[in-house]
Amino acid sequence: MSQPDLLSPGRIGGLRTANRAVMAPMTRSRAHVGGIPSELAIEYYAQRASAGLILTEGTAPSAGGLGYARTPAIETAEQVAAWKKITGAVHAKGGAMFCQFMHVGRIGHPANRYTDEPLVAPSAIQADGQMWTDAQGMQPMPAPRALETSEVATVIEEYAQATRNALKAGFDGVELHSASGYLPMQFLSSNTNRRTDRYGGSVTNRIRFVMEALAAMIEAAGSADKVGMKISPAMPFNDIHDADPEETYTTLVRAVAPLGLAYLHVLRTALPHTFDLLRPLFPGTFLAGGGFTRVSGHEAIRSGLADFIVYGKLFTSNPDLPGRFAKDAELVAPNPATFYTPGPEGYTSYAPL
Ligand SMILES: Cc1cc2nc3c(=O)[nH]c(=O)nc-3n(C[C@H](O)[C@H](O)[C@H](O)COP(=O)(O)O)c2cc1C
Repeated sequence: MSQPDLLSPGRIGGLRTANRAVMAPMTRSRAHVGGIPSELAIEYYAQRASAGLILTEGTAPSAGGLGYARTPAIETAEQVAAWKKITGAVHAKGGAMFCQFMHVGRIGHPANRYTDEPLVAPSAIQADGQMWTDAQGMQPMPAPRALETSEVATVIEEYAQATRNALKAGFDGVELHSASGYLPMQFLSSNTNRRTDRYGGSVTNRIRFVMEALAAMIEAAGSADKVGMKISPAMPFNDIHDADPEETYTTLVRAVAPLGLAYLHVLRTALPHTFDLLRPLFPGTFLAGGGFTRVSGHEAIRSGLADFIVYGKLFTSNPDLPGRFAKDAELVAPNPATFYTPGPEGYTSYAPL
C-alpha cells in the first residue's frame, strides 16, 4: 500500500473519514443568548462537511462552563435540539462531527453567562486579562471560586451528561478541550492549580481531573473510540503557565495512552518539538494542528509525524478546503475581523470553488 497523504481516506475510532484534513474547533460567537446554536450554524457547518472530521466550536458542557459572549452549550433540551439540526445537515452531506466540550473555568465573564453562579476553577486565582461582553464591552475577568474537593465530581458528571446529550444530538463523538488555558488545563498547570487535595501538587494529582473527565466521558459514550482530547502543551494563552510542561504532558500522554481514545489532538505551541516528544508516547490516532499549510500537512502525514492534520483559520474562509487542496487551488485568506462578529458576514459568506 502506498503511503497515505492528506487526501487519503482515514479512520478515527469507528469512523471512516474521506480525507485527513480535520476542521479545528473554532469559537465563532454566533449562538443565541442562552447557549443555543443559531440557524446560521447549520449552514456554516454543512458548508464544511467535506472535512475529514469537523470539530465543533468550544461548547459548554454545562451553564457553569460557559464564559464567552454568544457561545453555545449542550446542556438543555433546546440546545440539544438545535445541535441535532446541525449534525443532521452535516451527515446529510456525508460529513462527520465531534462536539468539543469547553469548560472555561476562570476564563469568562458573568455578563456572558445564563447562570448566576460564579466562575469556578481549581484555585481562586484571577486571570490577568480582559474579556468581551456585549453589554459592557471589554471587562476584567473576575476572580473564580475554588472548587471544593467534593464538587469536582459534580463537574466531572457534567462532562458525562454532556456526552450523553451530544450522542442524543447525533454527534459521532466528543472531544475534551484540555488546551488553551481552560478548566482542564487550569488543573494541569502549576500557576492556576495551588490545591493541596488529591487534585493538586504532584503531576499525578494535577492530571487527575483530566483522567476522571475522560473516564466519565468514555463510560457515558459506551466506548473510548468516541472520545478524543485536545492539548496545547506550554501554550501561554489565557495567563496559563506550567513550571515543567515536558514532565506534565509526557506523564499525561503516557497515562492516556492505554485508554483507547479515538485520537489525541495536539496543538503545536511553545514547547520545542512537541510532536516529536509526544507522538512516540501515544499509540493511537494522532491529530496535529497549528499553522499547517497544504504542503506541510502532506509532508507531516507522509513522514508519519501525524495521522490527521487539523486546520483552523483556513477553514473559516475556505469551506471546501480539502477540495481546494486536491486541486492545489488558491486559498482565500482568513479575515480575523469577522471571527467573532454576529451575523453571516465572514461566517457563511465564503463560497466554495
Ligand atoms: C476564531 C478562532 C476560534 C478558536 N476557537 C477555539 C475553540 O473554541 N476551541 C479550541 O480548541 N481551539 C480554538 N481555536 C484554535 C484552533 O482550534 C486551532 O488550534 C488554531 O487556530 C491553530 O490552527 P491554525 O493555525 O490552522 O488556525 C480557535 C482559533 C480561531 C482562529
